[in-house]
Amino acid sequence: MSATNTPALRPFLPTDTPVLAAIFAAAVEQLTGDDYSEAQQEAWAAIADDEEEFGKKLAGELTLIATLRNAPVGFASLKGKDHIDMLYVHPSAAGQGVASALCDALEKLAGGRGAKSLTVEASDNAEPFFKKRGYVAKQRNTVTINGEWLANTTMQKTLAEAAPGAPQ
Ligand SMILES: CC(C)(COP(=O)(O)OP(=O)(O)OC[C@H]1O[C@@H](n2cnc3c(N)ncnc32)[C@H](O)[C@@H]1OP(=O)(O)O)[C@@H](O)C(=O)NCCC(=O)NCCS
Repeated sequence: MSATNTPALRPFLPTDTPVLAAIFAAAVEQLTGDDYSEAQQEAWAAIADDEEEFGKKLAGELTLIATLRNAPVGFASLKGKDHIDMLYVHPSAAGQGVASALCDALEKLAGGRGAKSLTVEASDNAEPFFKKRGYVAKQRNTVTINGEWLANTTMQKTLAEAAPGAPQ
């Protein structure tokens, strides 16, 4: 991988909303088909149809954007101090470490906010990604999205303790 393929991170701005809505829909439509039916994918992707609401959700959380050559290719959001709410990567940039870079940053930010652990409701397709990062499955859930039932798994990772003697 060349240095130009290393994702850069920056905070979300309201003007990013349309491009993040497009990344969200493309990620759901193209990366989740092994685990969810077409009807489930459509219902899930439709969350971003109302861009105003979607933008409010992004702005209400700590949302980071990953860019490759200055173009947004993925995003992730931290809700409160200890919950990963969203993590989506455009299919054209999948498998290049974009989600890993976003997650590394959210884990550091959560630690900085005083979180001892971090939780996520991982989609079935994202579960192996989180497992690889040390998240442990705690509970299976079923949620309704736009009239469709979708399964996911609550996963939790214990964050590294601050070094002894370090300021809390
Ligand atoms: C899950 C997702 C965010 C991963 O994004 P990504 O940028 O491709 O992930 P990375 O390239 O950082 O992957 C890091 C590692 O996880 C592995 N991984 C990523 N997705 C995986 C999958 N679906 N199954 C198995 N392993 C996976 C990669 O192979 C890689 O392993 P490596 O370090 O040994 O090479 C992306 O597939 C996506 O947007 N999915 C659809 C939306 C979704 O479900 N989001 C999660 C909501 S909780």
